[in-house]
Amino acid sequence: MSYAIVGFGKIGQALAHAFARKNINVTVASRRPPEALAPQARAIGPTVVAKSLQDALEADTIILAVPFGEHREVAKALPSWKGKTVIDATNAFGVLPEELGGLLSSAYVARAFTGAKLVKGFNHLVAAILATDPVVEGGHRVVFLSSDDEDAISPVADLAKQLGFAPVKLGKLNEGGRAGARTRPHLGSAHLPGFVQEAAVINL
Ligand SMILES: NC(=O)c1ccc[n+]([C@@H]2O[C@H](COP(=O)([O-])OP(=O)(O)OC[C@H]3O[C@@H](n4cnc5c(N)ncnc54)[C@H](OP(=O)(O)O)[C@@H]3O)[C@@H](O)[C@H]2O)c1
Repeated sequence: MSYAIVGFGKIGQALAHAFARKNINVTVASRRPPEALAPQARAIGPTVVAKSLQDALEADTIILAVPFGEHREVAKALPSWKGKTVIDATNAFGVLPEELGGLLSSAYVARAFTGAKLVKGFNHLVAAILATDPVVEGGHRVVFLSSDDEDAISPVADLAKQLGFAPVKLGKLNEGGRAGARTRPHLGSAHLPGFVQEAAVINL
């Protein structure tokens, strides 16, 4: 498996730290040229390599860590997403439910990446927590995963485990979305209140 993180801001860098901690290769990209990202990538670790967006999109598995509205621009960068897994770590902050046509944000994003397997995940922890070692208090910090592609969640769950997290499969996007439904239904899967996110540590 090859991995890329698109978006190298707070969440992209937090995830890059997780890959670097386990010596797993990952490419990182944004709209800026790789030379602009390289010093920060190198500072995180030798397995984190900055590339152009086009080159980064050669990876099998792409983590989307851009502002919500930018997902469409990323989706346009490939003529077909067939064969790719997209891990959607975005949150639709500031977007009104009616702008999503009644869809959960994850389903809305999935529509833009035609042909890809989309897994919602790594979106429920604030960047400062996501960046820290997920092995805490003798357990593993939880990440919630959901997808409409049944066979897409397992490889992402394996990646989460390799990174030191405890993956919790929530089921399909609308089932995962229900986990956050009480407070912010349109935000999509597993947008749980902060105290739940940070306290969610389990033994594997
Ligand atoms: N911050 C958090 O604690 C947190 C927690 C959970 C989820 N999230 C979600 O994660 C996503 C990223 O948030 P963030 O806080 O990391 O934002 P951020 O710090 O503003 O970083 C966004 C990154 O996306 C890149 N970018 C923007 N448009 C792009 C495009 N069209 N193509 C490629 N790269 C693009 C930006 O770089 P360039 O300007 O160089 O392109 C930047 O590196 C958001 O959807 C947010 O809701 C954030």
